[in-house]
Amino acid sequence: MGDRADTAHAVGPRLNLAGRYDREVAVGVGRVWENVLDWEHLPALHNGQFHSIALLDSGPWGWRASVVNQPGDVARAQVIEVRIDRDAGRYCSATVEGPGAGSEIWTTLTPLAVDRTAVVVTFHVAETAPERLARIGQRYVEVYTGLWDEDEAMMVHRERALADRRRPSAASVEPLNLGPLSALLTTLPRLVEFGGERFRLLALEGQVIAHAVTCPHWLGPLDDAPVEDGCIRCPWHDYRFDIRTGASSDGRGLTLARAPRVSVEQGDVILSAPPAIP
Ligand code: FES
Ligand SMILES: [Fe+2]
Repeated sequence: MGDRADTAHAVGPRLNLAGRYDREVAVGVGRVWENVLDWEHLPALHNGQFHSIALLDSGPWGWRASVVNQPGDVARAQVIEVRIDRDAGRYCSATVEGPGAGSEIWTTLTPLAVDRTAVVVTFHVAETAPERLARIGQRYVEVYTGLWDEDEAMMVHRERALADRRRPSAASVEPLNLGPLSALLTTLPRLVEFGGERFRLLALEGQVIAHAVTCPHWLGPLDDAPVEDGCIRCPWHDYRFDIRTGASSDGRGLTLARAPRVSVEQGDVILSAPPAIP
């Protein structure tokens, strides 16, 4: 697939402006472009609006994917194409098949500072009746407010997590005594820091275990991830991990950072460096 950025140039003919949404986000424009190209987060981060996604094509020009909005709506899947024009600072999300086919959503990104970007979104549909057009526009603004709230929270968190990663750590990996097991159990689940990484301690299958709370994919937050059958899923792209071993539990192959060993010595819970990998 060649470079198709040239196709993101003008609103389609016969489309009418239904509404406009303006906001600023507290990250630089590079982080926003990363998010625009990140098709995989739609059904995870925006699970109120998207149920599943299957990528059909992608490249420097953008991406095209088949999207299902609600469970059981497979027959009503839409094909969405996102075409970007970085030089012009804008992109178009077009519905090319399925319900709403023909509509286009144009977004302009303007860098304001290293950590601030202005966003202007316009919604274009084939509807002509002014009242219906206004209702559609209002609905789009409501939905996009929520989507950008979720995107901004993710981008800000990721920016901070990347900055933390870059900071050199001289953290100790000396054994850490967390006190009596009986007292600790009443405080679980809880977060602890060990060797410069954050871990969650919880009771599982009659044992206290520790697992990393930074997702190895894009550094998403696993601090509060519900545990199901010993596994957690990341809220950003739905990658799943078995917290007993740190291994991937969805076949996508990423593993959690190694967790400290948890042992009980003379009634006290001790965290210590995990044994070296042979
Ligand atoms: S950051 Fe992508 S799945 Fe966790
Ligand atoms: Fe998003």
